Amino acid sequence: MQKVLIAPSILSANFSKLGQEIKDVEKAGADWIHVDVMDGHFVPNITIGPVVVKSIRPVTKLLMDVHLMIKNPERYIESFAKAGSDIITFHIEAEEDPKEIVKLIRYFKKKVGVSIRPKTDMKSVEPILAMVDMVLVMTVEPGFGGQEFIFDCLDKIELLRKIFKKDIEVDGGINETTAPEVIRKGANVIVAGTSIFGSKDYASVIKKLRG
Ligand code: DX5
Ligand code: ZN
Repeated sequence: MQKVLIAPSILSANFSKLGQEIKDVEKAGADWIHVDVMDGHFVPNITIGPVVVKSIRPVTKLLMDVHLMIKNPERYIESFAKAGSDIITFHIEAEEDPKEIVKLIRYFKKKVGVSIRPKTDMKSVEPILAMVDMVLVMTVEPGFGGQEFIFDCLDKIELLRKIFKKDIEVDGGINETTAPEVIRKGANVIVAGTSIFGSKDYASVIKKLRG
């Protein structure tokens, strides 16, 4: 069993005091900081870009886990890498040539993740599994925090764990009820926005999510 890592998604943090929120989750036991980048094209919502990654980078020692929900991710890898991302995850649905984008992320010496939407077949990532460090399995349709967990995605996690020994991250609708389910299926990195930042006691939620 791999150690379970907790990655609070700052999408649900209070942006008027983002630096403090990050310090607070670090103190509360978080392992990574999950940063949701949305462009209004790949997903209907718009969030933040490299400028914000750069400004929060000095605030924490935690690994900066950048989830790109954007079209043409290859255009932005350099800026996110230089802003201080540690792991850069792109969506398989957004990329016609996934091997090239993996190479580009490696060129900047960053860890590589590939993400799949709930309705995307696992087969679409199989050709690049050997090249990536992490697969991010979406358990809601990407775009917004605070959505209901899609239980159909559990089978996908189980299937993936049989053939992939590195990090499996899950993202969307994770709380104290759904976390044990995804961990049992083989996920080892848990993203949580609403359940952490929506609570009064970050440390207690993080502890419960870890199981
Ligand atoms: C959704 C994002 C998630 C989101 C998770 O598109 O990728 O990271 O912030 O939020 P919760 O935990 O609230 O479902
Ligand atoms: Zn995310």
